[in-house]
Amino acid sequence: MSMIKIIPLGFAAGAQVVGVDLRQPLSDADQRRINEAWLEHIVLVFPEQQLTPEEQIAFSRRFGVLDDHESQAPSTLHPEHREILVLSNKVVGGKKSGTYNSGRNWHTDLSYTTRLAKGAILHCKEKPPVGGDTMWANLYLALETLTPPIRRLIEDLEALHDVTLVRGIEQRDPTVVAEMKKRNPPVIHPVVRTHPETGRKSLLVNQRIRRFLGMSDEESQNLLAMLNAHATSPEFVYRHRWSVGDVVMWDNRCSMHVALGDFDQTKPRVMFRCSLEGEVETGRIARDLAGSDRESMLQAVAAVS
Ligand code: SIN
Repeated sequence: MSMIKIIPLGFAAGAQVVGVDLRQPLSDADQRRINEAWLEHIVLVFPEQQLTPEEQIAFSRRFGVLDDHESQAPSTLHPEHREILVLSNKVVGGKKSGTYNSGRNWHTDLSYTTRLAKGAILHCKEKPPVGGDTMWANLYLALETLTPPIRRLIEDLEALHDVTLVRGIEQRDPTVVAEMKKRNPPVIHPVVRTHPETGRKSLLVNQRIRRFLGMSDEESQNLLAMLNAHATSPEFVYRHRWSVGDVVMWDNRCSMHVALGDFDQTKPRVMFRCSLEGEVETGRIARDLAGSDRESMLQAVAAVS
């Protein structure tokens, strides 16, 4: 029997998990309990955990196949464990880290690849005295609360996701940016997707979408702004204030998140992230587009390259 307790932290998302030491191997009962809570609350917070990289990797592996970070620049990975992406604003050897401003606009991890991540496990190693919070939005609620006419409009819509829309990417180390662009050409995903475990549908929008297919730029921008504003309504959001030692695990299949730059940038903020590989490939590379969609996509990409 599992001794784990689940304490809800928010209405839309978020629950604290106590009564488990993540350094120890998980029992099957604990794993089941965590998985059920994860599906229900989307974002789980495990406070006061001090994991080595090996322990974080072992815990993360219980929930899926670890992403090997092929989409990321090699310099941003842990030097001994490529399963760990190091999100750090520290200056090393006179150079800012290639992830110093990661996650600063609303996004669903790896939407700029054909296989969105299943989820992620983020461990707080160092944090500024105040701020550096992360927010998650529940995209089931975002879809379910749209009015029927808008729901019909987006039901079969597809969107172009573009890594160059990662906020602040152009301020990063140019070699890291060049790697990211080379590894991640624009991709297309459906706007409504179905969660492989819960069967619930959610809205896949975020601030890394360039446009919707088959719509003019003006239509796309207005619709996207409306959908993003709706999806990030405070009612659908959980905001986490980090403590060192927190492990936060989120379900990327029904949420988006943003890492806020609301802190003194001279103070270190360091997070280790393991990502779980998505179970299914829902995207395709945009070079498969035909006719005018391809033309306007190429023009849009050229304008920012
Ligand atoms: C991310 O995975 O987008 C980063 C989250 C964070 O650093 O809080």
